[in-house]
Amino acid sequence: MTTFPVPDDVLVKRPRRLRGHPALRRLVRETTLTRDDLILPLFACPGAGVRTEVASMPGVFRESPDRIADTCREARDLGIPAVILFGLPESKDPIGASSWRADGIVQRTLDVAKKAVPDMLYIVDLCFCEYTSHGHCGVLRADGTLDNDATLPNLARQAVSLADAGADVIAPSGMLDGMVAAIRRGLDANGHTSTPILSYAAKYASAFYGPFRDAADSAPQTGDRKGYQQDPANSDEAIREVALDIEQGADMVMVKPAMPNLDIVRRVKDTFGLPTAAYQVSGEYAMMHAAARNGWLDLDRVMEESLVGIKRAGADMILTYFARAMARRLGG
Ligand code: PBG
Repeated sequence: MTTFPVPDDVLVKRPRRLRGHPALRRLVRETTLTRDDLILPLFACPGAGVRTEVASMPGVFRESPDRIADTCREARDLGIPAVILFGLPESKDPIGASSWRADGIVQRTLDVAKKAVPDMLYIVDLCFCEYTSHGHCGVLRADGTLDNDATLPNLARQAVSLADAGADVIAPSGMLDGMVAAIRRGLDANGHTSTPILSYAAKYASAFYGPFRDAADSAPQTGDRKGYQQDPANSDEAIREVALDIEQGADMVMVKPAMPNLDIVRRVKDTFGLPTAAYQVSGEYAMMHAAARNGWLDLDRVMEESLVGIKRAGADMILTYFARAMARRLGG
C-alpha cells in the first residue's frame, strides 16, 4: 500500500502561525498606508461653477477655480496633506505662453484655493503639453522635434510665475535635459530659494497616460513623447536620470507610472534615500474602475492593495486619483 508521510521535520517552522489571528496579523504587518501618504491630482479649467466629469476617469472632474477650492476643502477635511494642480488654459499657442501669465489658469486657481484652504500644500505640475497648440512638452524646431535647450528658459519662467502665485512645490514633468537646474536657478534668482522641486525624474513613455491626455487635453497632435520620456525597458537609465536631477537640485524625486515600475521605485529609494514619490497614473485608475464596473474586481480592495504595494516598494508619497476614496477607507 502506498503511504504519504507528513514531513514533520520541516513543519517545526509554520509561517501560517502568524496569520491565524486578525490582531496578530496587525502586529506583524510591515507596511501601513496612511492619509499622510496621499497627494490628490486636480484639473483646473476656466469659468465659475464648472465641474465636468472626465469620461474615462469616473469621479475625476475638470473644475473651475471656485470648485477646486471646494474640493481642496473636502480633501483637507479628509486629512489629505497635498494636491497637485494641472491647468487647462483658455487658449493655446506654439510656445505655451499662457502657462506663465500672472492670470493663467493655475495661477488664478492658486489664488482662490489658497485663500479658501490655506493649510493645504499646493504642488503644481510644470509642463507645456497642456499649453502648446501641438501638445508637445516645449517649443518645437522646424522639423517638428522638441527643442530641449530653447524650452529651458520657458520652464524657468513658468516656474517663477507659479511660485509668485503661491505654489508651494514645483513639479516639472517634461523629462527635458537640464530642466531641474534651469528651474532651480530661475527660482533662486527671483526670490524663491525656499520653494522645493519634486522632479518627475524617472518618467516613462507610457500608454497608461491615455485617460489623462483626455482630461488635460494634452495629447501630442503628431508623433509621441518617446524622444524625451524613458523607454519602459530600461532600469539603469532611470538611476542615471534620477542622479542627474538630484545633482541639479531636486529635493524629491518621482517614478511614474507606479504599477509597471515598482522595481524602479525600490531601486531609486534604495540608491538615493531621497523622499520618493510614485504616481499611480490615469490608466491605472481607469482600468481598475472599468473592471469594477463590469463586476470583475472589487474596487475598494484593488485600490487599497495597489496603494499598499506602491508604498511597500519604497514610495514615501503617492499621487493617486483614489486619494479621497482611500482616505475615506482609512477612516478620514
Ligand atoms: C505631463 C504629465 C502627464 C501626466 C502627468 N503630467 C502626461 C504625459 O506625460 O503625457 C500623466 C498623469 C496621468 O496619466 O495620470 N504634463
